[in-house]
Amino acid sequence: MTSTTASPSPAAPSLRGPFRLAVGVMVAMAATVLKGALTTSTGSGMAYPDWPLSNGQVMPETSYTTVAGFLEHFHRLAAATTGLLALALALWLQFGFAGRVAGRALATAWIGGCLILAQGVIGGVGVLKNTPVLTSVTHGTLAQLVFATFALLAYQLTDRYRTTVPLPGVAPGTGRRIAVAAVVLMVVQTVLGAIGRHANSGHAIWTHAGHALVVFFVATIATAMAVGKLGAAPGIRTLSRWIVTLLMTQIALGFVVLAVRNPKGKSEDNVDNLGVAFTISMHVVIGAALTVLLATLAAHVFRSTRRAGGGAPGVEEAFR
Ligand code: HEM
Ligand code: HEM
Repeated sequence: MTSTTASPSPAAPSLRGPFRLAVGVMVAMAATVLKGALTTSTGSGMAYPDWPLSNGQVMPETSYTTVAGFLEHFHRLAAATTGLLALALALWLQFGFAGRVAGRALATAWIGGCLILAQGVIGGVGVLKNTPVLTSVTHGTLAQLVFATFALLAYQLTDRYRTTVPLPGVAPGTGRRIAVAAVVLMVVQTVLGAIGRHANSGHAIWTHAGHALVVFFVATIATAMAVGKLGAAPGIRTLSRWIVTLLMTQIALGFVVLAVRNPKGKSEDNVDNLGVAFTISMHVVIGAALTVLLATLAAHVFRSTRRAGGGAPGVEEAFR
C-alpha cells in the first residue's frame, strides 16, 4: 500500500500542548453554541436587556433562579471563557513557539480570536437592539464559521497535518472544488435555517428543508470523491463516514424539529417546554458539527493534493 505520511522531523518541536488547548477551545465553544441555541429556542435572548453586564451585574441572582436568566447569562459566561482560552492559545503560539510554528497556523489562531471578538460584539449589540433578525441571523451563522476556524487550527497543529505528503499518482488539486462547494452550501443552509428561525419565516424554512437535499447530494459526492481518489490519505475515510452519518441524522432530525417547533417561533413561552427546546438545539449543534467536519475535510483534501515541491509546504516548511 502507498504510504502517504512521513515521520515528523526529529528537530520539530512538539505542538501537542497547543493542540490540546485548541481542542479545549473547541469543547468550550461547543458548550457555548449549545447554550446559545437553547437561549434562542426558549426565547430567552432578552432575559437581560443590557450588555456587557446582565441587569448591571456580573452575577445577577436571576441567572441561577430563572431558566431564561440561567441560559442567557451562562451563554455569555461560556462565550467569555471560550474567548479567553482562544486568546491564551494565540499568545502561546505567538510567543512560546515564535519562529517554530507554521505561519498559517499562527494566522488562523489570530483570525479565530478576532472572529470570536466580533461574534461577542454582534451578540451584545443584538441584545442592545432587542435581537433584530439581522444580528441574530449573523450571530447564529458566524458561530459556525468561528467553530470551523478553530477546527482548522486544531488540524494545523496535528502531527497528521505536518506529516501528510502530497498523494503520489493524484493530480494536484483533485477533489478541492467539490469539497469547498460542500462547505459553501452548508453555510447557505445555515443562513436559511437561521432566517427561518429568527424571522419565523415558513418560506425560509421550506427552502431550508429543500436545500438540505442539495447539501446532501453535494456533500455525498465530495466524500465519495475524497474516499475514491484520496482514500490513501489517513483520516479521509473516517471523516467521510462521520459526515454522511451526521447528514442523514440531521435531515431526519429536521423533520422532527418541523413537527415539534412552536408555530409562533422563538417565544418566551417556549421556556415551559425544555424537551422541545433541547431537540431543536441539537439540530443547531449537529449543524455546527457538520460545518466543522466539512471544513476539516476540505482542509485535508487541500493538504493531500498540494503540488509536491515548489511553493507547497513540506514537513519542515510547515513550521515556519
Ligand atoms: C464565542 C462567542 C459566542 C458564540 C460561539 C455564540 C453562539 C451563539 C449561538 C450558536 C446562538 C444560537 C443561534 C441560533 O440558534 O440561531 C447564540 C444565541 C445568542 N447569543 Fe451568542 N455566542 C457567543 C457570544 C455571545 C455574547 C458575548 C453575547 C452577549 C450578549 C451573546 C448573546 C446571544 C443572544 C442574546 C442569543 C439569542 C439570540 C436570539 O435568540 O435572537 N452571544 N449565540
Ligand atoms: C443538511 C441538512 C440540514 C442542516 C445542516 C440543517 C441545519 C440547521 C441549522 C444550523 C439551523 C439553525 C440555524 C441558526 O439559527 O443558526 C436549522 C434550523 C432549522 N432546520 Fe435545519 N438543517 C438541515 C436539514 C433540515 C431539514 C430536512 C428540515 C425539515 C424538514 C429542517 C428544519 C429546520 C427548522 C424547522 C429550523 C428552524 C428551527 C426553529 O424554528 O427554531 N432542517 N437547521
